[in-house]
Amino acid sequence: MKTLEFSNNDLMPIFGLGTWKSEKGEVYKAVREAIKIGYRHIDCAPIYMNEDEIGKALQDAFADGDVKREDLWITSKLWCNSHGEEYVKPALQKTLSDLQLDYLDLYLIHWPIAFKHDVILPEKGDEFICLTDVPLSITWNAMEKCVALGLTKHIGLSNFSIKKLEDLIANSSIKPEMNQIEIHPFFQQNEMHEFCKEENINLTAYSPLGSMDRADFLKNPKEPNLLEHPIILETAMLHQCTPAQVLIAWSINRNIAVIPKSTNPGRIKQNFEAQSIQLSTSDMHQISKLNSNFRFISGEFFPFEDSSYTLDNLWND
Ligand code: A2P
Repeated sequence: MKTLEFSNNDLMPIFGLGTWKSEKGEVYKAVREAIKIGYRHIDCAPIYMNEDEIGKALQDAFADGDVKREDLWITSKLWCNSHGEEYVKPALQKTLSDLQLDYLDLYLIHWPIAFKHDVILPEKGDEFICLTDVPLSITWNAMEKCVALGLTKHIGLSNFSIKKLEDLIANSSIKPEMNQIEIHPFFQQNEMHEFCKEENINLTAYSPLGSMDRADFLKNPKEPNLLEHPIILETAMLHQCTPAQVLIAWSINRNIAVIPKSTNPGRIKQNFEAQSIQLSTSDMHQISKLNSNFRFISGEFFPFEDSSYTLDNLWND
């Protein structure tokens, strides 16, 4: 299994299981099945509202001897209502308790956006907290302390722009080792990819298949379908594989970790098998033409009006 290396030589499997939108009642079976097939990397977050069920699946997988803790890579994320010095450690401890683990392999700041502590999903602007009141560097410093306490082996970010990465690098003792962002052929993130290579920061691609199972309020009715694009279909025909497998192989070919979500046993297996597909330079060139700066996860669902946040300062500042 291909891996990405971290600064202390720890290796993260480049391919993992996404769990955003994996419903309770389904995610237990999905995680057990994935581990049996050979998945060794599971991507989680408390806002997916399923970490307790994933924890049960992990416990049972350990008890049944399917895998050992040290052979798994588990990532989770700090939700936006727990930025700031005092909230990071308790939030990580709650995730560890739900996942029934002693430590995470990787803990990420989920968004460079802060909410008031009692808000899970804001409905209006005054439920946000401005980043000048709770600077990302303070939250990062609390993440660093969690590494020192052994609660997580590595720390990183999600949904951070190059500018925010630069600012954080300048204000950190532990350099961020990961940025998890939306990446697929319609949104290739070439500039970020180059920046992260130079800075030795690994990337993880979320929504690699276009996350078509998102709730309607997170969707744009006119959005294109990645799995049905003619170039993806042609490449799949050429390799006698499925469009989803092409998208997974494309990310792995670029050395970007990829975490497709599935709760369907057949597709969990199919996605795992995509790791053996070798795309050619010509395939990569064809797919590179699909870059169209299109985000499925636009950020427009955040009710930013009357807050200090805008889509522009989220993605570009
Ligand atoms: P399901 O869970 O029923 O398999 P993303 O990882 O980009 O968020 O995409 C997840 C969506 O893609 C889900 O709707 C998931 O459905 C679907 N999906 C996962 N694997 C495949 C596959 N191999 N072929 C088609 N759709 C897939």
